[in-house]
Amino acid sequence: MRITVTIGDVTTTETPALVVNLFSGVTEPGGATGAVDRALDGVISQLIKEGEIKGKVGDITLIHTMGKIAPARVVVAGLGPADKFDAQVVRQVSAEVARYLRQKGINEAVTIAHGAGIGGLEPTTSGQAIAEGSLLGLYKFSTYLSPSKEASADLEDLTIVEQDQDRASEIENGVAAGIVAAEATILARDMVNEPANMMTPTQMAEIARRVAESEGLTLNILESPQMRELGMGALLGVAQGSEEPPKLIIMDYRGDPDNPGNNLGLVGKGITFDTGGISLKQPGGMEAMKGDMAGGASVIAAMKMIGQEKPKINVTGIIAATENMPSGSAQRPGDVVRAMNGKTIEVINTDAEGRLVLADALCYAREKGLTRLVDVATLTGAMVTTLGKACTGIMGNNQELLDKVTEAGRDTGEKYWQLPMFDEYKELIKSDVADMKNSGGRQAGSISAAFLLAEFVGDTPWVHMDIAGTSTADRTKGYQVKGATGVPARTLAKLARNLAESGT
Ligand code: BES
Ligand code: MN
Ligand code: ZN
Repeated sequence: MRITVTIGDVTTTETPALVVNLFSGVTEPGGATGAVDRALDGVISQLIKEGEIKGKVGDITLIHTMGKIAPARVVVAGLGPADKFDAQVVRQVSAEVARYLRQKGINEAVTIAHGAGIGGLEPTTSGQAIAEGSLLGLYKFSTYLSPSKEASADLEDLTIVEQDQDRASEIENGVAAGIVAAEATILARDMVNEPANMMTPTQMAEIARRVAESEGLTLNILESPQMRELGMGALLGVAQGSEEPPKLIIMDYRGDPDNPGNNLGLVGKGITFDTGGISLKQPGGMEAMKGDMAGGASVIAAMKMIGQEKPKINVTGIIAATENMPSGSAQRPGDVVRAMNGKTIEVINTDAEGRLVLADALCYAREKGLTRLVDVATLTGAMVTTLGKACTGIMGNNQELLDKVTEAGRDTGEKYWQLPMFDEYKELIKSDVADMKNSGGRQAGSISAAFLLAEFVGDTPWVHMDIAGTSTADRTKGYQVKGATGVPARTLAKLARNLAESGT
């Protein structure tokens, strides 16, 4: 879809559909919606009076203009209550509207910049949210659907109309940023939705190579012999059950080459399929485990975004990619593996493989001199039980960095909630035979997993994001489409920008 910005007046712009909006509780629409209402002899206020238009968030009303104004149709989109309005509402509403237009077979539309007037949003923020919402809301994973099965033509052209020249160019900047964010998020979604026979560790490395090439990042791929040399016994223990060669993918963006210490490391879990290994998972729903590389995918996507946005900070993405398979060569429950930092782990459950591969990836990140670390992983089913799909659970050893993640999420609309790292929980992973065990049993499953990771970051400021719930959506709503969400790619890129700007 193409998104453009033009200067003009909505009532005189020729288009198959004009999108305006309405806050709930408003009886006499103002701004552009008011102008359209007057030009249509008060039909919108009439529909409000009759209770047909309520302005509830996501509500859509279609009005045919019958030649009274230049647009053939007016689409009134509800924004919900004014006191709950923010950029996230614009993302959600833009997505609902885009899908509505597609479903009506309308492939060209004009919209006002939601919220940039009465809503009080900056024009850039509005433009960015419209672009992100529309593009992400129209997302489809149709690679393996025969063309005949595919639905009607897509919405191809969206034009944002604004009267003021300066504000129009601000909206334009926002749209450009929104397109960058949406395209990277879509890359993450595509990788996660792709079946595991296609999205192998080798294929993840290939996609990282393409991103590195197009965005001017340095790429380095470690193969198993190098992993062995480095002593990555935890990662290799997981990989040994699979025929697919593991890859440690390292992507480097140099935005502040004169200050190598000004850096951020993003570490992603890239289990391209998680059968559980010898501690085999139940068959029901196992197909969802093709998405167990969502952390790695979001890191690759964030690196793409960062490569385009060019913040003044050095960012390294590290993705530990391998399959977790049961086989004659697979590791067994009871095996003890030694990670790169020399620490030993008793493998109680081969299905707790994410923390094993991350252990070595985090060691590697530290050896590389990274001074701040954020890891992203579909780590525990317990996280889905605890927080569901509304927000990502975060844990860590540095409150300042945790707060920065939460704050970045407020702008991107990707929510975060911190779980405690009380010392008491650490006991859950005590082992009789090794420095720790990889499963803490049934209690506080997400936190005990984080405690294992903590053993490999030392005192480096670190945040762990458990995206087991948020990496996929059960149903299509707002800008999320059933399947992969691309979370938390936009937040990671925003964090990099915020850290670059604060210069600390
Ligand atoms: N990839 C899973 C976690 C997961 C579950 C992600 C559901 C998304 C949806 C992870 O590797 C896993 O299997 N974790 C185990 C750990 C347990 C054996 C200690 C779990 O959560 O059951
Ligand atoms: Mn597992
Ligand atoms: Zn897993």
